[in-house]
Amino acid sequence: MVPLILSILLSLTSYASPLNACPKCGTTQVPYPLSTTPDCGNPNYKLSCNNHTLLFSSAGNFTYKVLTISPNTNTLIIQPPIIDQSTCQSSDLGLNGFRIEDDSPFNISKSNTVMLFNCSENILLSPLNCSSISPCRLLAEQGIGCRNRLCCSYLKDSSMTSRQIRLRIGGCSAYTCVVDFKPRQTVDAWNFGIELQWLPPN
Ligand SMILES: *[C@@H]1O[C@H](CO)[C@@H](O)[C@H](O)[C@H]1NC(C)=O
Ligand SMILES: *[C@@H]1O[C@H](CO)[C@@H](O)[C@H](O)[C@H]1NC(C)=O
Ligand SMILES: *[C@@H]1O[C@H](CO)[C@@H](O)[C@H](O)[C@H]1NC(C)=O
Ligand SMILES: *[C@@H]1O[C@H](CO)[C@@H](O)[C@H](O)[C@H]1NC(C)=O
Ligand SMILES: *[C@@H]1O[C@H](CO)[C@@H](O)[C@H](O)[C@H]1NC(C)=O
Repeated sequence: MVPLILSILLSLTSYASPLNACPKCGTTQVPYPLSTTPDCGNPNYKLSCNNHTLLFSSAGNFTYKVLTISPNTNTLIIQPPIIDQSTCQSSDLGLNGFRIEDDSPFNISKSNTVMLFNCSENILLSPLNCSSISPCRLLAEQGIGCRNRLCCSYLKDSSMTSRQIRLRIGGCSAYTCVVDFKPRQTVDAWNFGIELQWLPPN
C-alpha cells in the first residue's frame, strides 16, 4: 500500500513540475519557460540572474529588476528605471526608454498606465492626458516626477505599440509606470512596475 501511494505521489510531482524549469534566482522561483541559462527553461524567454537578482534585458541591453512573476497569467512585473530628480531623467533615457525586440515573445500588457515627465509643449498635440488632473500630477506634486514641469499619462492599451515606452530629449525625459491603476487610489497604494506578458511556447 505504502509503495503504491509513494509511486502515485512521485508520478504526480514529476508530472506537475514541467520540463526543465530553471533553479531559483536568490529567493525567486523561475517558472518554465523563463530561462536564466542556455541549459534550462526555453532560451527564447531569456532573463538573467545576477547576484541573486532576476533581471529582464531590453533591446539595447538595459536591465530591469523582475519584481514578481505570475505563471498562471504568463505575466511578470519589472521595476521602472530610476529617475534622477536633479536632471529629471530616467536612467534609460540614453536608449530612448524601454523597448522590447520585435521577435521577442514578451510584450507590454494592457494593464500599464505610463506617466511621462518633463515633457515639451508639443506633446500636447498627442492623445495623452496632460491635463491638470492627469494622474501623473499626483506624483509631480510629491516631488517624485519632476515638479513644475509638464507631465502626461496614458493607458498602454491596444491602440499603442506594445513593445516600447518612448522617451527622447526634446520630448519627455522621464517616466514611471503603474500596473492596474485605479483613479481613486492614493499614491502609496499604486503598484509601480511595468507588466509584461509572454506568449506561451507553442
Ligand atoms: C550583491 O547584492 C548585495 C545585496 O543586494 C550587495 O550588498 C552586494 O554589493 C552585491 N554584490 C555585487 C558584486 O554587486
Ligand atoms: C546585447 O547583448 C547580446 C548578448 O549579450 C549581444 O549579442 C547584443 O549585441 C547586445 N546588444 C546591444 C545593443 O548591445
Ligand atoms: C485625465 O485623467 C483624469 C484622472 O484620471 C480624468 O479624470 C480625466 O478625465 C482625464 N482627461 C482626459 C482628457 O482624458
Ligand atoms: C527637463 O526640463 C528642463 C527644463 O525644461 C530642461 O532644461 C532639461 O533639459 C530637461 N531634461 C531633458 C533631459 O530633456
Ligand atoms: C501581447 O502578447 C499577448 C500574448 O503573447 C497577446 O495576447 C496580446 O495580444 C499582445 N498584446 C499586444 C498589444 O500586442
